[in-house]
Amino acid sequence: MDSMEINKGIAAVLVAGMVFFLAGTIGVNLVDEKRLEKPAIAIQGGPAAETASAAPKPEELPPIAPLLAKADVAEGESTAKKLCTSCHTFTEGGKAGIGPNLYNVVGGPHAHMEGFNYSDGMKAKAGPWTFDELNEWLHKPASYVPGTRMAFPGIGNDQLRADVIDYLHTLSSSPVPLPAP
Ligand code: HEC
Repeated sequence: MDSMEINKGIAAVLVAGMVFFLAGTIGVNLVDEKRLEKPAIAIQGGPAAETASAAPKPEELPPIAPLLAKADVAEGESTAKKLCTSCHTFTEGGKAGIGPNLYNVVGGPHAHMEGFNYSDGMKAKAGPWTFDELNEWLHKPASYVPGTRMAFPGIGNDQLRADVIDYLHTLSSSPVPLPAP
């Protein structure tokens, strides 16, 4: 192979590179990816219609009842063992760790463990823990109780969160009934 051939080879590679680069640039400019302000197709009663009217709430969680109806307690238990046991115990009369014991928490009052040093935000929450509230709490603890002591980001997966809540709900001698789906 003489040097001419080698030069041709290099030129071919350079040209190929330029064509590739140009095609990309042209492509990007041709396609105008502006986001639509309104969905092109409005689905009646669909999520688009709802979010348009309910402005301030940043994230609507899907309703918990249908997710609980198909929840897997065993999956919830193993997830809770992985994610929560560094701070919580689940057995009746279990000691507090970094977090309170969680026996009887579902249906019990917020800040349900006697003598535990809860955050002011948690103490200010009134009423019993409902499934919906647990859903919100375990989705993003710091949004549900600003200034919470629970240093846990939350469980993003809706079904997995329901599995964990379903497991928590079994931690009682007389569990509150699951909501009708
Ligand atoms: C890093 C430690 C930590 C982890 C991990 C953690 N928690 Fe907590 N948890 C806390 C603390 C601390 C509180 C008290 C929060 C407050 O006072 O604001 C709490 C409070 C709670 C409460 C409210 C209890 C009550 O008496 O009202 C529930 C329910 C709960 N955690 C569930 C869970 C579940 C389920 C997980 C796992 C998916 C989990 N937590 C992971 C530390 C933790």
